[in-house]
Amino acid sequence: MTACSDVDEARVGREASPWWQSLNGNWQLKLWSSPDAVPNTAVKKDLASTAGWLTVAVPGNWTVQETGDLPHYTNVQMPWPLRPPETPSENTTGVYRRTFTVPKNWKSRRTIIHIGAAESVHAVFVNEAFVGYGTDSRLPSEYDITEFLQAGKNTLAIFVPRYSAQSYVEDQDQWWMAGLHREIFIESRSHVHIAQLHAHADWDPDQGLATMNLAAFIGVIDNNSQSPLGSGWSIRSWVETLEGKRLGKTHSSKVPHRHLQPYGFSGHTAKTSFEVPRVQPWSAEMPQRYRLLCELINSDGEVTEVVAQVIGFRRVEIKDGLVSVNGRAITIMGVNRHDHHPDKGKAVSVEDMRQDIITMKRANVNAVRTAHYPNDHRFYDLCDEYGLYVVDEANIESHGFNTSLCHDPRYATTWLSRVARMVERDRNHPSIIMWSLGNESGYGEHHDACAAHIRRVDPSRLLHYEGAVFHGGWTDGGKNVTDVVCPMYAPPSAIEMYMTAKLGERPLILCEYSHAMGNSNGGLADYWKVIDKYPLLQGGFIWEWKDHGLRQTLKDGRERFAYGGQFGDHPNDGNFVADGLVSPECESHPAIQELMWVHRPLAVEQTGWKLRVTNRQAFRNAAWLKGVWELTLDGEILKTGNWSPEVEAGQSSLVDAPTNLPEAKKVNGEVLLTIRWFVKKATPWCEAGYLVGWDQIVVRAAAPQRMPKRSSNEDRADIDVLLGGNPRLNLWRAATDNDGFKLMPNLASQLGVGGRALWEWLSAGVNTKPANSLVDHQCDSYVDIDGAVVFDHTVVVPESLKDLPRIGVVFELPAGFDELSWYGRGPLENMPDRNSGAVLGIWSAEPDELPYIVPQEFGLRTDCRWMDIARRRDGVCLRIEALNPTGLHMSAVHHCDDDLFSSADITELTWREALTVHIDIAHRGVGTASCGPDIDPRHSIAAGTFRFAYRLRLLGATDG
Ligand code: GAL
Repeated sequence: MTACSDVDEARVGREASPWWQSLNGNWQLKLWSSPDAVPNTAVKKDLASTAGWLTVAVPGNWTVQETGDLPHYTNVQMPWPLRPPETPSENTTGVYRRTFTVPKNWKSRRTIIHIGAAESVHAVFVNEAFVGYGTDSRLPSEYDITEFLQAGKNTLAIFVPRYSAQSYVEDQDQWWMAGLHREIFIESRSHVHIAQLHAHADWDPDQGLATMNLAAFIGVIDNNSQSPLGSGWSIRSWVETLEGKRLGKTHSSKVPHRHLQPYGFSGHTAKTSFEVPRVQPWSAEMPQRYRLLCELINSDGEVTEVVAQVIGFRRVEIKDGLVSVNGRAITIMGVNRHDHHPDKGKAVSVEDMRQDIITMKRANVNAVRTAHYPNDHRFYDLCDEYGLYVVDEANIESHGFNTSLCHDPRYATTWLSRVARMVERDRNHPSIIMWSLGNESGYGEHHDACAAHIRRVDPSRLLHYEGAVFHGGWTDGGKNVTDVVCPMYAPPSAIEMYMTAKLGERPLILCEYSHAMGNSNGGLADYWKVIDKYPLLQGGFIWEWKDHGLRQTLKDGRERFAYGGQFGDHPNDGNFVADGLVSPECESHPAIQELMWVHRPLAVEQTGWKLRVTNRQAFRNAAWLKGVWELTLDGEILKTGNWSPEVEAGQSSLVDAPTNLPEAKKVNGEVLLTIRWFVKKATPWCEAGYLVGWDQIVVRAAAPQRMPKRSSNEDRADIDVLLGGNPRLNLWRAATDNDGFKLMPNLASQLGVGGRALWEWLSAGVNTKPANSLVDHQCDSYVDIDGAVVFDHTVVVPESLKDLPRIGVVFELPAGFDELSWYGRGPLENMPDRNSGAVLGIWSAEPDELPYIVPQEFGLRTDCRWMDIARRRDGVCLRIEALNPTGLHMSAVHHCDDDLFSSADITELTWREALTVHIDIAHRGVGTASCGPDIDPRHSIAAGTFRFAYRLRLLGATDG
């Protein structure tokens, strides 16, 4: 909140103010091995020598700016084996320097420097003089530097040790970086100024009434106790639209003066409360914003400064036992997000944050937990603007000392100041609906103190703290400190049990679930089946948004997204830092398809010959969406049309189907009705026509096929030549991160998480022994009357080998095959336990490229009726047709399983011209065992007999 000289400037923002100046840009930096090694001369006004000083960007982490001091990744363990508050003797410490000049017209005023954040702690020097010291790496610190300034050029030096006693409460599962990673600016303040606004914009849903409850805190900087604040000062405020149209009247409130009533004086706080007419409430679905303007007026009636604050009117409460916004229960379709950029580390720009937010909105995400610290203040502006509910989390994680520091009096004020300062900075944002007391820091008296503080200063929001329910239980655990039961990684059965066994009355919102590491998010739809069933289950936040790989160029010029250990950092937790729904560059992983579906705004299911349409939104009706239906026969469109059932928010109605279903069911073949919802008009996050939801109804299931007749002509040379022999039985897949941590065999036991299946497979030799030696396998193969080669397999899996990765066949296609089309689930990669949102259809694409940082199984399409793998240059095409059952799981990619399994990253992986083609009768689900529940038993491969058949045919060969 920057002071401006008039209303027009305030509407534009701080860039228009004469009293604000950015100090971002290139700074000098020099590193030493520890704080003690830094000579006093480093902060001197004039440097004797500039040897060893580098030029770096601020904001920026020096760890990603070629300084030689590199990022370090750990999860629970600290990077060094010490106890709080000891710091390691090797502790790179930087001094940043630059000069600046203060505008002449700031002279009679105060100059403040704002340090957006520094990792780990920082000390500020202006013209050699020590100004102050800041200890929270994720919140700003401000210092009045007026007394230290000189005319003309001033030297600013900021001393930043990489680690400090505070690192023990910043032990998040993330990169340890270092440096000035958020913005730096100077600001000019009048001796009497608006220091802070508490702008509580309330919406009463029953009366449709918007009220602004405003407290303006007037800062007074006493100059030789000659306070220029006398009586007669006031604040004039009003609310307007973002276009500048005032809503209702202006309101004046007196600034209390301390001399009038010394005993009862409670601060120079001007308070007022007024109704605002013609207001629409704010919600994540309809993020309506307004602007509050406040003028500070002196005793002569002159406006001395103006500040503006963007606001949204809304009410957050527990209503009828549920987390509600504006009187309606909401469902959290959320993600956890860290600040991350593959090149810039933690120094994310507004455009980087916008990219994250737009990608989230496009995936039907409606909420973010700022895991695990307050973000750059502009992140919340964007959440207000685009519409995302926010759980704002304090920068506290003492994971390595989980249950001790929260009782350690030496850290009591650390806790309280981190929480209190977060609330103070962020409280005017409508998007924030809960305050989180931090992450994985036990549960102790420090939390009670923080909660008590917030309940006093901001009763308008709810409290969230996972540690309280983890250590205290879901039923009664930590009622003082958390209004919601917010467990992490509980399986669907556990959250259902919370309901069926009546384990508690608080709303349950999973603060982390469905760990998105590599090929993952299996069972996502199982969660939502349960969440949709019980109102008290109010959703959850996926762990997590982004893969935190850092771009690294190897000596030979090859590039990769590096994870823990790849910077020579020890100890480390490897690729556990790469567990996102999107790549480091914000490209969606295939699981986003399933995420969009479980989050879809409208859901359609069949009830008899009618359809039940459920509007899963809390506020919006369906009018912003255009429904399009399509009836297909064996994938080909029979009929299509538009459909606009009217369903109010939160309601569900039984409506006539858009086409005659009894008639459609009579048609021979597989008949499917697919309904898709497109956005009618462009929004700030999508273009008109963007697809946001879909459902598919099986009108008539595919009938089992008869096995084709044998032909007397036995000629199958074309297939034999192309494949180089019969497809080979295959039981192996390149293990996913959830199957087991192939790069970190010990991580599972260290953390108590991680899949075990991989280790069973390896000890049984599933990856090394010929598949035929592990299971009983018969294959009957013949040429059918269409000239196709039929393969009919019977596989018997012994009890000792249950829970195999897959049962199927594999073969290679020579170079040149570059186009896939299939009738099966798609369009994106899907897995047997992640395919509820993958609709059956005819799709086409080039072979997938590896979407994950660590090579592993990818590219599968489940339930394929057929797949064509074609050579664009001559149209030659291999057709694979499932015969029994009607659908088989297929993939065709440029990597074989051995290559994928044996490589640790893309630079080790060979891209082959040939395509490796898989056809599976059974494929293990992916689950989320890297941190959370493994697959549901129905997606595991039991022992027993598996019979499957398909045929291969070469099409277009003679034309070529
Ligand atoms: C949670 C933690 C996250 C992350 C996740 C696993 O325990 O809160 O920060 O470590 O597990 O990726």
